[in-house]
Amino acid sequence: MTAEPLEIHLEERDLARSLRDDVRTGLTAQPKWLPPKWFYDARGSELFEEITRLPEYYPTRAERAVLVERADLIAELTGAKTLIELGSGSSEKTRLLLDALSRRGTLGTFVPLDVSVSALRQSTADIAAEYPQLRVRGIVGDFTRHLGRLPAGGRRLVAFLGGTIGNLLPDERAAFLAAMRAALEAGDWLLLGTDLVKDPAVVVPAYDDAAGVTAEFNRNVLRVVNRELGADFVPADFAHVAHWDAGREWIEMRLRARRPVRVRVPELDLTVDFAAGEDLRTEVSAKFRPAGIATELAAAGFATERFWTDPDGLFGVTLARAE
Ligand code: SAH
Ligand code: AVI
Repeated sequence: MTAEPLEIHLEERDLARSLRDDVRTGLTAQPKWLPPKWFYDARGSELFEEITRLPEYYPTRAERAVLVERADLIAELTGAKTLIELGSGSSEKTRLLLDALSRRGTLGTFVPLDVSVSALRQSTADIAAEYPQLRVRGIVGDFTRHLGRLPAGGRRLVAFLGGTIGNLLPDERAAFLAAMRAALEAGDWLLLGTDLVKDPAVVVPAYDDAAGVTAEFNRNVLRVVNRELGADFVPADFAHVAHWDAGREWIEMRLRARRPVRVRVPELDLTVDFAAGEDLRTEVSAKFRPAGIATELAAAGFATERFWTDPDGLFGVTLARAE
């Protein structure tokens, strides 16, 4: 079967407007910041895939190890008819769930949702070809805004993998989980991947690899702003920084001006000045403790049914039921 045409919940006009709003808000704030969803144009999505193959970047391998072990049990416990995946990217690890749910014979529909049109186009075409028995309905959307538009009915399992929930700030995370619960019915399931708190000597290199791929990924957001809003960022003017915040237990990616930099953003009629050494925060990636995950889920109306980690205890996967 070929994939159905992508459902567009985030039209280009809408996307352009929210980029403009975010860039104006973030670059005029003190300290300056940009939301991480803007990394993922076609090049950014490719760079992320490259990151997942780096020796230092453990989360993908660790989460995959959990899914290899547990996918059949997840299929048995959930009996899902519809698998929805948020921030699906290439859906590479998701094939383990598709395989297990197909073996069990319950799955009929796969619904990947991502803000990246290029990643979604590729993944839906590939998966429709690999799983001809499945209905594949890709949705171009923002998981912080479009959860109300997920397909209703059937036994639903929502997978949110990779630790992407950690890229939301704590208040965004609480709002996201509440919206997720509101979009589901009691008895639906959530499978949530979370990177776990560990020695910063392991975390920091995962975000500052020797080959410099993460640095390129980080600077890619400047290229997106240049292309979409006519800005004149010179990416090489900014150094990649991965900063572990021990108090908040998250890693921050920043871009640090190597010298005083003036940037013009003509589409916003905006001029932005960076002092030498000034940081632009481009991402937080929160690390979690098992008790904290269960508490946050419970506050949103989810009961934790299972929690698994990989053998090295690096990464956690929670299976929770909407109550
Ligand atoms: N789930 C995959 C990919 C993780 S990368 C994995 O585990 O490897 C994060 C993905 O989330 C990217 O594909 C990015 O485009 C998407 N994304 C980031 N912010 C988003 C948002 N607000 N709404 C929808 N997708 C988003
Ligand atoms: C998508 N997300 C979970 C990744 C992370 O680890 O926070 C994005 C990333 N940032 C730097 N490297 C990878």
